[in-house]
Amino acid sequence: MKKFDNIKNRFPVNPWDISEKKYNPSDYFTNETLFACANGFIGVRGSFEEGNYLGHSGTYINAFYESNKIEYGEKYVGYPSEGQSMVNVANSIKIEISIDDEILDINKGELIDYNRKLDFRNGILKRKIIWKTQSGKKAEISFNRLVSFENKHLIAQKIEITPLNFDGEITYKSFLDGTIKNYIDEDDPRIDNKFKKSVFKTRELYNDEFMFLNQITKKSGKEYSVGLKESIISKSKYKVKKYKDTDKLYNEYRIKAKKEKTITIEKFSVYYTEMNYLKKQKIEVELEKAFEKGWDYYEKFQKEYLEKFWNDSYIKIDGDDALTQGIRFNMFHLLQSTGKDGYTNIGAKGLTGEGYEGHYFWDTETYVLSFFLYTQPETAKKLLEFRYNTLDAARDRAKEMSHTKGALYPWRTINGYECSSYYPAGTAQYHINADIAFALKQYYQVTDDFDFIKSMGIEILVETARLWEDAGSYNSEGQFCINCVTGPDEYTALINNNYYTNLMAAENLSFASEMVEKIKTESPEIYQELKNKLKLSEEEHFGWEKHAEKMFYPYDEKLKINAQDDSFLSKPIWELDKTPKEKFPLLLNYHPLVLYRYQVIKQADLILAEALLPHKFSDEQVKRDYDYYEKLTTHDSSLSTCIYSIVANRIGYEKEAYEYFINTSRTDLDNYQGNTKDGIHSASMAGTWLGVVMGFGGMKIYNNELHFDPKIPEKWNEYTFKIKFKNRIIKVKVDKTKADYSLEKGEPLTIYNKGNKIELS
Ligand code: BGC
Repeated sequence: MKKFDNIKNRFPVNPWDISEKKYNPSDYFTNETLFACANGFIGVRGSFEEGNYLGHSGTYINAFYESNKIEYGEKYVGYPSEGQSMVNVANSIKIEISIDDEILDINKGELIDYNRKLDFRNGILKRKIIWKTQSGKKAEISFNRLVSFENKHLIAQKIEITPLNFDGEITYKSFLDGTIKNYIDEDDPRIDNKFKKSVFKTRELYNDEFMFLNQITKKSGKEYSVGLKESIISKSKYKVKKYKDTDKLYNEYRIKAKKEKTITIEKFSVYYTEMNYLKKQKIEVELEKAFEKGWDYYEKFQKEYLEKFWNDSYIKIDGDDALTQGIRFNMFHLLQSTGKDGYTNIGAKGLTGEGYEGHYFWDTETYVLSFFLYTQPETAKKLLEFRYNTLDAARDRAKEMSHTKGALYPWRTINGYECSSYYPAGTAQYHINADIAFALKQYYQVTDDFDFIKSMGIEILVETARLWEDAGSYNSEGQFCINCVTGPDEYTALINNNYYTNLMAAENLSFASEMVEKIKTESPEIYQELKNKLKLSEEEHFGWEKHAEKMFYPYDEKLKINAQDDSFLSKPIWELDKTPKEKFPLLLNYHPLVLYRYQVIKQADLILAEALLPHKFSDEQVKRDYDYYEKLTTHDSSLSTCIYSIVANRIGYEKEAYEYFINTSRTDLDNYQGNTKDGIHSASMAGTWLGVVMGFGGMKIYNNELHFDPKIPEKWNEYTFKIKFKNRIIKVKVDKTKADYSLEKGEPLTIYNKGNKIELS
């Protein structure tokens, strides 16, 4: 097994928050990601209000991007022409505080006390400092920030300044800064480097009753507006001046400060995209409303919202607070970064950084969606709606790729159109089609929401099934083969019969057929509509059934293992134990072709198939496969360790299951991948939840019924989680000797514990 660095808790262990008691400049950039606040629509990195010390402050709006021309040395047919990159929009949290003209900068003067905390129970980021100027004046300053779950357009701030040993003048400035740029790192292919200059043109700047900025992206003409208003709500005396600069607005307050009298400032900003006329008026009304309600109202709402979230997605590990902290931190960030309106999704880096350009990948359906499905199915449904709303783009893409029918979903996208420029590890990952179909099947099994299948799901299923029919072909032995694709393992590309792809495609084909039949029998009118809309013939779906049945699965008779693809096992083995540590991740140190020539694996591939469809494989088979592939896997992708943990649990490799799980659960908290500064790893975060529920809990759906096969790591005394299943809420509690299942809500249900029937009522 790969040796992971020992857990090195970067934060004090507390199951409900992350906190710092010391300012450490070298952690600043990474911690900007970890302390980010978001609500699925807006995300704000955890940068300090008074300035951007050593990192990169960022404010992002889900699905708001700028297009760019993808430059290729040699451009072939079907290569996407336009990229999409999430852009950093105006910074509205920025402030400046001066005492006697000495500007607050915690690297200067003396930082007497420092405390920062992001509390998962109320979603509020608080920082309190005591700072002494070089001339000896001391002040306590507290910063409170939230990105509202009540109004997705709103960021609220409360700032309190208390002079501790002086009376005098304090200057406070509040900014709306539209001069921001995206982050650049020329050496990392996972970072977009196209936007060296600002992507925006400012169209309107206004500073009177409130600040207002309207900007438009230079290339694609996408527009957003932001308004900001602040008010000193304590009884302090002050004079205010308003300024308008190029692309930037600010107000300056000169406040008469009195020793030990706190100056309290409330500040709200509101972001809107793509509004028609009246945007300024609309934003003004929203700001007024925010002031009527005030900070305390939003703080309370945030807490109530999160109380419900934690109740719905209850999870606790008794005996390991560091893991509980990791798991809850991850769930909190998933909630924060996921779009909930059917038109936005969750980027691989959430709304916390610019890595992978804010793109949505298969990470959503294969990892993140399950977490929501079993805890907040309505959010899972919205994520699936996103794929329905972008189905036409996938149909266009299939045509571009010379398919005669069907839809091909993009490997990377924001607006539904493919924008991956490196096709071997991009477009060639056709499995994304099957991943989406698999998520639909899971959604249907867990919610019984047949209406959704009839209204939206079925179109996705039909079009993805058609794509497989068009992409696959029969070999001379009558087996259905899918050639020249890339599976999940991106260190192996453009191969024939990737086992994972073939298996998932077969699922896609047969589920599509099953649903067509069901609609035909149960809702003949809808079936007629579908037939017309999709030009579906009476027989078409029988063909899909046949392809699924005849699907080819490569197997090595000598090794008695499933082969990752047709050619993988014939390549030489990459000697991972002889590869120096600094050469990892391999993708940053070797040309892709070098990697493609070896048996070396970036992330769970065949093992992922065995994790997602456990009933299709015997324990003995999984064990042999695991023993073989595990040694070749680098886990250079953060999507890997959670899957290895799940499968290790199944075959009784307790120590490995636990080690892989630790790595997953604290991937970002402890910066295991080394690039948390560019944003969270959302798939791995969700993988933590999967690791507990599907790994240790051994949960799976088989024959439309729920099965558990719980294990408990030595270090834990007990663990508990709740899931929603077919309109019930089930609580599962596992200790050293037994598992308890209770029905918290809903009709009686039969479930299985280690194969034995249990009637829940
Ligand atoms: C992984 C992909 C993943 C992407 C975004 C890559 O490193 O190989 O599977 O979709 O990151 O998370």
